[in-house]
Amino acid sequence: MPNPPLGNLTAEQFLADYWQKKPLLIRQAVTRFDWLPELADLIALAGDEEVESRLIEQRKGKWLCESGPFKPARFKKLGDSDWTVLVQNVNHHQRFAAELLYRFDFIPHVRLDDLMISYAPPGGGVGPHFDSYDVFLLQVGGSKRWQISGQTDLTLVDGAPLKILERFEPEQEWVLEHGDMLYLPPKYAHNGVAIEAGQTWSIGFRAPTATELGGAFLDYLRDRIDLDGLYADPDLQRPADPARVPDDFIRRVAGMLAQIRWDEAEVRDFVGRYFSEPKSHVFYDSPDELLTEKAFAKAVTKQGVALDLKSVMLFDSERVYINGDALDADTAAFPALHQLANQRSLPAASYPPAVLDALFACYEYGYLHLAEG
Ligand code: SIN
Ligand code: CO
Repeated sequence: MPNPPLGNLTAEQFLADYWQKKPLLIRQAVTRFDWLPELADLIALAGDEEVESRLIEQRKGKWLCESGPFKPARFKKLGDSDWTVLVQNVNHHQRFAAELLYRFDFIPHVRLDDLMISYAPPGGGVGPHFDSYDVFLLQVGGSKRWQISGQTDLTLVDGAPLKILERFEPEQEWVLEHGDMLYLPPKYAHNGVAIEAGQTWSIGFRAPTATELGGAFLDYLRDRIDLDGLYADPDLQRPADPARVPDDFIRRVAGMLAQIRWDEAEVRDFVGRYFSEPKSHVFYDSPDELLTEKAFAKAVTKQGVALDLKSVMLFDSERVYINGDALDADTAAFPALHQLANQRSLPAASYPPAVLDALFACYEYGYLHLAEG
């Protein structure tokens, strides 16, 4: 199990005392960085159209917000202070960012969202706001002053291009230095302002609204329902008002719609597919030179496999899901596939044919790759 970046706290203590309950500051939560991007690396990511990015500027007390992709020249026009560039899903592009994100797997993968990186020169920040999900804010390089508040007044400035609290009443504040991390539960007001130029790495979580889930579940059902019957009214009487919808018509339609039912098995399947679905800008590349199934099996024995950084693999008691689909796999393959989903890689070893079949299907789509060996 990876060791959670929680300082002296165990994951169990963190979950019992802080998760979704109260803020926590952890000094020196992360001390080893195998990758430390420069501003130029973030500008390169922000220029990629498969990467979501935003640029936020404060000018004369006004907030301005632009969405990427950005040409490098855009950053030359910025001053020495008071702006922030934010790059989403860096874990899709950098192995170290993905490894760091998955060190937070004391929270189920289905709840993990992404690792976002922001860079700000002195004075830069995104303004006082709240997020609707939990967040870990890790300082990387430089320093930033964070002020937080448990205030219940969450009124936002009307008409601003981003979420800014109309009134912010800080209750606590800290200066975060390289490696320090602040955890905030959902809806906790916060404001971070860079003192020395540096980065904030945000580990964000998924907290869907009931409306989002309801809409997505109805889409799922629409693709699967097959209802019996055709509207019929052999007892029809001539109406006094031909334009009036007869109450009897409504009753018959209600009866037909009452056939729409679902059970927990459908909810389970929906959850596996929906929560492993890639975001709209995510694409997978099949290997340029596809190995035959036999050559692939031989290579797995020597090298093992690793999930693509963009892959999401989940499982429940019935099925294994990857990138929005249920994997067509024999139950004999489940132990190895569960290990792959949990650890995001499988070591070099000889695996039974059922496992190799499932791995090969994922390899063909570019959902996983042969590991370096
Ligand atoms: C930032 O990176 O400056 C903003 C992150 C946040 O407040 O959620
Ligand atoms: Co925030």
